[in-house]
Amino acid sequence: MKRYEGLSGHVLMIICGFTFPGVDGQLLVSALGATRVNTLADANLTLAVSFSGAPDPAVTWFKGRLPVVTWTLGSDTPPDVAEEYRQALRLEPNGSLRFVRVPLGYGGDYTVEMTKSGLGAVSLNFTLGVFELLENVTMTALPDLIKEGSEQLSVQYLMLRGVVERQLWFFNGRPVAEGEDGSRYSLRPGSLAVLQPRRNDTGRYTVSLSNPFSSVTLHLNVTVLYGPDEPRIQIKPVQDFYVSGDGLTLSCQADGSPQPLVEWTFGDQTLSDDLMGVLNLTAVQTNQSGLYVCRLRNQMTGVQRQQTVAINVYERPAGRPQCSVVSEDNRSLRYSCRWSGGTPPATLSFPSFHVGSSLENVTLTVNASSELDGRMFTCRAHHPVENSECNVTAESPQNFLPSVKTEVDSEGKIVVSIRCLSRATPPAAVRWFRGGEPLGDDALTSDDGASLRIRHRNVSVLVLQNYTCACRNPLGSRSKHLRLQEPAISNFSLFPHKDGTIVTLTWEVPPTSIVTGFDIQMSGPALVSADGSAGQSKGNGDTFRTILPKPGSARSADVLRLDPKATYRFRVLPRALMTEGRPTEARRIGPAEGLSGPAIAGIAAGIPCSILFLLLMCGLVYLAFYWSRAKRHQTSYPVSRAADKVTTTPMQTPHNLLPGGGKSPPDYNRLLHQTPSSLSVAAPPFIPPPPVRVATTV
Ligand SMILES: *[C@@H]1O[C@H](CO)[C@@H](O)[C@H](O)[C@H]1NC(C)=O
Ligand SMILES: *[C@@H]1O[C@H](CO)[C@@H](O)[C@H](O)[C@H]1NC(C)=O
Ligand SMILES: *[C@@H]1O[C@H](CO)[C@@H](O)[C@H](O)[C@H]1NC(C)=O
Ligand SMILES: *[C@@H]1O[C@H](CO)[C@@H](O)[C@H](O)[C@H]1NC(C)=O
Ligand SMILES: *[C@@H]1O[C@H](CO)[C@@H](O)[C@H](O)[C@H]1NC(C)=O
Ligand SMILES: *[C@@H]1O[C@H](CO)[C@@H](O)[C@H](O)[C@H]1NC(C)=O
Ligand SMILES: *[C@@H]1O[C@H](CO)[C@@H](O)[C@H](O)[C@H]1NC(C)=O
Ligand SMILES: *[C@@H]1O[C@H](CO)[C@@H](O)[C@H](O)[C@H]1NC(C)=O
Repeated sequence: MKRYEGLSGHVLMIICGFTFPGVDGQLLVSALGATRVNTLADANLTLAVSFSGAPDPAVTWFKGRLPVVTWTLGSDTPPDVAEEYRQALRLEPNGSLRFVRVPLGYGGDYTVEMTKSGLGAVSLNFTLGVFELLENVTMTALPDLIKEGSEQLSVQYLMLRGVVERQLWFFNGRPVAEGEDGSRYSLRPGSLAVLQPRRNDTGRYTVSLSNPFSSVTLHLNVTVLYGPDEPRIQIKPVQDFYVSGDGLTLSCQADGSPQPLVEWTFGDQTLSDDLMGVLNLTAVQTNQSGLYVCRLRNQMTGVQRQQTVAINVYERPAGRPQCSVVSEDNRSLRYSCRWSGGTPPATLSFPSFHVGSSLENVTLTVNASSELDGRMFTCRAHHPVENSECNVTAESPQNFLPSVKTEVDSEGKIVVSIRCLSRATPPAAVRWFRGGEPLGDDALTSDDGASLRIRHRNVSVLVLQNYTCACRNPLGSRSKHLRLQEPAISNFSLFPHKDGTIVTLTWEVPPTSIVTGFDIQMSGPALVSADGSAGQSKGNGDTFRTILPKPGSARSADVLRLDPKATYRFRVLPRALMTEGRPTEARRIGPAEGLSGPAIAGIAAGIPCSILFLLLMCGLVYLAFYWSRAKRHQTSYPVSRAADKVTTTPMQTPHNLLPGGGKSPPDYNRLLHQTPSSLSVAAPPFIPPPPVRVATTV
């Protein structure tokens, strides 16, 4: 093979020598093609040259400045090829340099130099590019976590094989130039460095690689991690404080990449942990007052930040402030004002007293003096949710009337209750005296001391005593003397009804009189019996007989089934057990005293002298009687069989029992059963109720 090559070299040399026989004195060398040659690795190629001006010059090929092949054309010795280039370099007999399966490292500048003794040297430069196809190119960014502010971000490409002749970088489609943007970009072989990357360096990096035989474009999305930034807390609605039961929403946010995780904590309690950072507090309670911490964390970089917000939840104290004044040692007054249970506690003060305010409860002790009597003090209560106040007035015992109530106990004793109630603030203490002496065993005071109960069988004993009650508080005292009286009645009245068959009796009792019951007494004909006929005339028409007993609380009675033609007289007898009081004056109803049926009969019987006259009279009597019967049937009170007899109806309507306009003191026994307000209003005029309700048989 070598031999063959040597032979063909000779042939070429001979052809050359033959071709340029007459050219002397000037050695020339020229390229037989481009002097700039690109090739894929492993290909065969030749850097072909031709020369003229002299036969068989000495040829030297340099790679860079290194001689790699030397030979004198046409000589018998084979070309001298540098040891390490022997594999791939061949020298053609005509001086051209042939590359067999050119390896990658052979690219570079080549120079051929030809010399001929006496003619000097000529040279020619070639540039050889040896490339490979770009294969399996990948792009990566370093470091793995690119954080804002870190030293640098490096975007690089790697490939399995290939020689890059040209690389172009783009960021978000825009070419990146070295030194741009304050020299933050630095282009290096195989990579682009971004110094101190920022959040807006996040984006799409593109590299475009090419050589004469192939090109490739790659993209890489790079994210620069940052944050969380300063947290922003929002509260809705914004208020200085919230009232228990309110709802509010806290939100906490901050920029970051990736989106930071938000954790709300209150005390050692984690309330929410998500990306939204919204904390809903519905119907907050006072124990939810305090500091709420919003903690943001970048899950990739681990960077944390936190922000704190204070929430106040208040609650007004229950109810209203309570003012009061109590007696201390019966000499001074302790004013106090209380409004507890609020959050925060309410601040209370009595501005008129010029003392400092205090929380929840303020108390002041003042020596009692007449200046304080009836003077109102205001306690001011301040609470963030609501301001309030209460008033308190101390007053000395006011004028009052003692009341007397009489009952009969199970042992048959009379029980008299005397009550002394004087309006006073603070409440008056009541002390009792009997004729200036302490009370005996038969007297008991009630728990509040305002009532005295005396029990005795003998009314005369009760009536003998004088009682005194003294009501006293630090601002003053007021006493009343009282002497109990025998059973008595005042203001007795009769009210006949329109048709004359019913009459209502009303009466009053003097305030200090002891009464346990009443007897309703009547004189006159008997009441109409159940069958509607006139009753037999029982008893004498002039004597009073008890027709109806009434209890001690009664102040009226109805008498039914009266004969409208007849005349009746009524009176009321008060009693205390067996002791009778003085009966009232009698009151009459019915026609004036005159002719009545029996009287006429008596007269008739007394004139026997003239039969004619008698007959005439008899006829008259008969006519009169007949007429009378007819009339009675017409006008008699319609009665039902069930309520045939005298019925009584308890009075239920309060009525004005004092026709004299308050000449006499009120009936305390009765007042006891009334509400205080009804004492002061004028009662409606008396209207007797229909006599069909509760019926009592007489
Ligand atoms: C290159 O030359 C060598 C030796 O002359 C030969 O074996 C090979 O097939 C050639 N390759 C090409 C691609 O022509
Ligand atoms: C030199 O020889 C090579 C191969 O032997 C040939 O391809 C080339 O054309 C020759 N050059 C000249 C100038 O004849
Ligand atoms: C290189 O890429 C080719 C086709 O794109 C694929 O078949 C081959 O497996 C890749 N080689 C490596 C080492 O990734
Ligand atoms: C890179 O980002 C672009 C736009 O920003 C997007 O269209 C593309 O799908 C992303 N590519 C990858 C691999 O995420
Ligand atoms: C918080 O409250 C708002 C408004 O009341 C509501 O729209 C939202 O869904 C609530 N969020 C949560 C997590 O309960
Ligand atoms: C207290 O008295 C003042 C002045 O008379 C009055 O305006 C206020 O309403 C009273 N407050 C209460 C709670 O009664
Ligand atoms: C009760 O008082 C009257 C006059 O006030 C007096 O005359 C009488 O003696 C007194 N009786 C007793 C028991 O003190
Ligand atoms: C009641 O008391 C009076 C006076 O003490 C006395 O005279 C009278 O006898 C007593 N009557 C009875 C029934 O005890």
